[in-house]
Amino acid sequence: MAEDCCSFNKESFIIKPPKKSPLALRMVVLVAVMICGVYICSMCLKQIGNHGVPRIIMIELAELPCHDPGIPPSEIPYVHYPEPTTYSREECACTPVRYFAILSMQRSGSGWFETLLNSHINISSNGEIFSVKERRSNISAIIKTLDKVYNLDWHSSASKNECTAAVGFKWMLNQGLMANHEKIVDYFRIRGVFAIFLFRRNRLRQMVSIVANNHDRNTKQLNGTHKAHVHSKDEAEVLARYKPTINATSLMFHLRSTGESTANALEYFNSTRHIVVYYEDLIRNRTKMVDVLDFLKVPQRKLASRHVKIHTRPLSDQVQNWDDVYHALKGTQYENFLNADYKL
Ligand SMILES: *[C@@H]1O[C@H](CO)[C@@H](O)[C@H](O)[C@H]1NC(C)=O
Ligand SMILES: *[C@@H]1O[C@H](CO)[C@@H](O)[C@H](O)[C@H]1NC(C)=O
Ligand SMILES: *[C@@H]1O[C@H](CO)[C@@H](O)[C@H](O)[C@H]1NC(C)=O
Ligand SMILES: *[C@@H]1O[C@H](CO)[C@@H](O)[C@H](O)[C@H]1NC(C)=O
Ligand SMILES: *[C@@H]1O[C@H](CO)[C@@H](O)[C@H](O)[C@H]1NC(C)=O
Ligand SMILES: *[C@@H]1O[C@H](CO)[C@@H](O)[C@H](O)[C@H]1NC(C)=O
Repeated sequence: MAEDCCSFNKESFIIKPPKKSPLALRMVVLVAVMICGVYICSMCLKQIGNHGVPRIIMIELAELPCHDPGIPPSEIPYVHYPEPTTYSREECACTPVRYFAILSMQRSGSGWFETLLNSHINISSNGEIFSVKERRSNISAIIKTLDKVYNLDWHSSASKNECTAAVGFKWMLNQGLMANHEKIVDYFRIRGVFAIFLFRRNRLRQMVSIVANNHDRNTKQLNGTHKAHVHSKDEAEVLARYKPTINATSLMFHLRSTGESTANALEYFNSTRHIVVYYEDLIRNRTKMVDVLDFLKVPQRKLASRHVKIHTRPLSDQVQNWDDVYHALKGTQYENFLNADYKL
């Protein structure tokens, strides 16, 4: 039987070539149909592109396999399913991810704020990534960096597991953010990035902190290391002992200009989804962090940070030339900065 079968096969191959041609013909037709299909598809895609359908719709299409019917349509532009190039999200591949950025200024409590967020199991905030100049040298470098962070491909000590539900970083206004604001606002709108503004109401206290921090950068008061943030009362005490001298001549100018930067940032990013948080409000009421978690659509949890506040005493005890500062601001719109103190 076996021999029969094989010899028959051989025969059909060798002796009866005409039988092969219908098969070959069928293959040719099939290939032609396939080419046609691909061509039609590509024309369709081109037309969609030509008619300027917003990119968001294209992104949605690409992400459709993970579509969760529980997510309301208005939320869809803000929900993402990144596919990191360096690892697999495995069972969390369809865990939706929100993108955020903490937009702030130096010495506004953003370090503390970020450690609070990072104590949440589903939040990864990757630090001040644009403090490195090359990453912000032009808009393409900025966008490349943003893409990497939001694709969950940025590796830092804050990177969490594949079940991250909110990913972001902190960005100071003077780190290319204001200089490139138009393109960045476009990016935030198209990619659905949430902006969390963190500002300090008392900009005089912010100045004291800036001057004191610059002093420590030079003098390294804690056993020869500079610390912008501390984790113990003893360390805070050492740093708070230094009483900065504030230039009273340029004080008004500085307070006005930081005020303007804040107002401009709020105006530029007004069309993005955003929340404004003030450091003083968080200090007085830690439960305010709940508003931030709700904004990011992550589950509510208790948050913790090891940061210890450095300057806790009344301002008059913390400025070397208090009389000058007092007289420079007395009777101006910034007078309230002189008195507003924390009740901790
Ligand atoms: C948060 O992370 C945990 C642990 O990785 C995971 O089980 C859970 O699904 C995540 N929650 C959300 C809302 O993503
Ligand atoms: C943008 O900056 C990066 C990094 O500094 C540089 O490599 C790149 O050539 C720059 N691109 C443009 C278009 O200037
Ligand atoms: C500095 O070092 C000494 C000895 O190592 C230690 O006891 C002390 O706590 C340190 N002080 C600070 C402010 O870190
Ligand atoms: C204080 O600021 C003024 C105006 O900017 C400047 O001319 C002056 O040199 C500054 N004084 C000190 C001690 O830095
Ligand atoms: C943001 O837009 C809203 C509504 O258009 C407006 O009422 C508000 O004043 C704007 N805020 C800023 C800071 O521009
Ligand atoms: C603290 O903040 C929470 C969340 O915003 C708010 O519900 C609560 O009323 C605040 N508590 C006080 C004492 O202001």
